[in-house]
Amino acid sequence: MEYRELGKSGIKVSAVGLGTWQWGSREWGWGGSYGKKDVLTAFETAMELGINLIDTAELYGRGRSEELIGEALRGHREDVVIATKVSPWNLSYGRVLKAAERSLRRLGVDVIDLYQAHFPNPIVPIGNTMRAMRKLLHDGKVRCVGVSNFNLRGVSAAQNALAPIELTSNQVRYNLLDRRVEKDLLSHAASERITIIAYSPLAQGLLTGKFSPNSEPTNFVQKTNTRFSSRNLAQLSEVNRAIEEIATARGKTASQVALNWLIMRENVVAIPGIKTPQHVTDDAGAVDWRMRTDEVEKLERAAANAKFDRLSAVPNLIRALAHH
Ligand SMILES: NC(=O)c1ccc[n+]([C@@H]2O[C@H](COP(=O)([O-])OP(=O)(O)OC[C@H]3O[C@@H](n4cnc5c(N)ncnc54)[C@H](OP(=O)(O)O)[C@@H]3O)[C@@H](O)[C@H]2O)c1
Repeated sequence: MEYRELGKSGIKVSAVGLGTWQWGSREWGWGGSYGKKDVLTAFETAMELGINLIDTAELYGRGRSEELIGEALRGHREDVVIATKVSPWNLSYGRVLKAAERSLRRLGVDVIDLYQAHFPNPIVPIGNTMRAMRKLLHDGKVRCVGVSNFNLRGVSAAQNALAPIELTSNQVRYNLLDRRVEKDLLSHAASERITIIAYSPLAQGLLTGKFSPNSEPTNFVQKTNTRFSSRNLAQLSEVNRAIEEIATARGKTASQVALNWLIMRENVVAIPGIKTPQHVTDDAGAVDWRMRTDEVEKLERAAANAKFDRLSAVPNLIRALAHH
């Protein structure tokens, strides 16, 4: 496994971690047919393969994801770096402190390794949030602090508010099809040694090679993402072809190629949303190799040629709810 430092914290995390957004969500129905046994076995597989970063949030499964991680952690606490998040409506000083206590209890641990503000909240001054983060650091309840879904201005404000303590990470959507982060966040993060934690690194399944114009989205998350409309899936052909050619030449899977493209950047770690031991084994094969420049260029060219409709979850969300 490849490891890299989380910001300047001295904490080493695997280049590929575990995303647990769908653990426990809506009686498991949101992410397809899998359950507690699958995710707990997946966690054990991750331990065997040296994957040590696990990402969750108080929001995921309304606390259920944190509880399941708490169960999985028994006997493994020292081997794992836990990243969790405080919801945007809990960013005021007092609410951050209370939310942290609830997360600690659900996780069954004394300290959260990385505590992240899940989204910015324009109503709550970031200074307020970061004052609470400083208290949690001081009290030994948190080891380092990050943000998520913050733009450059938000990151700079968070950095200033936390100073002289360093901001450790920014968790953002980043994959071959969603490269907005490259506009300014990525270079800023590299120069400040802030880790970019790439979420939806497989574009919620689009980059796994399983989708073509005739495919139907298989789970709730995909059904509510307009990227999975048949018009958009038709745009995937060249991307699929490029990924497949590289995967075949390298003896890799499509997901491994897509994840490898992300983690070739030194300050990026990817957290694919895993549900099964097979996902974990697959994702672990994304590290310890590098694509050649011509392969990278081929991928990026294919992705740039895919003209997707604007990414929006709303219309499909309404449709999916109507069928629920
Ligand atoms: N901070 C935020 O606001 C935010 C937002 C979204 C996500 N996240 C974090 O990022 C994580 C991942 O994001 P995501 O779930 O949206 O998207 P993702 O990781 O891009 O896609 C995950 C989906 O891809 C499919 N898949 C196929 N092969 C896979 C493989 N080898 N490994 C993993 N998945 C594979 C799975 O669905 P099937 O097997 O059913 O096809 C899975 O549900 C979340 O769990 C969460 O921790 C954070």
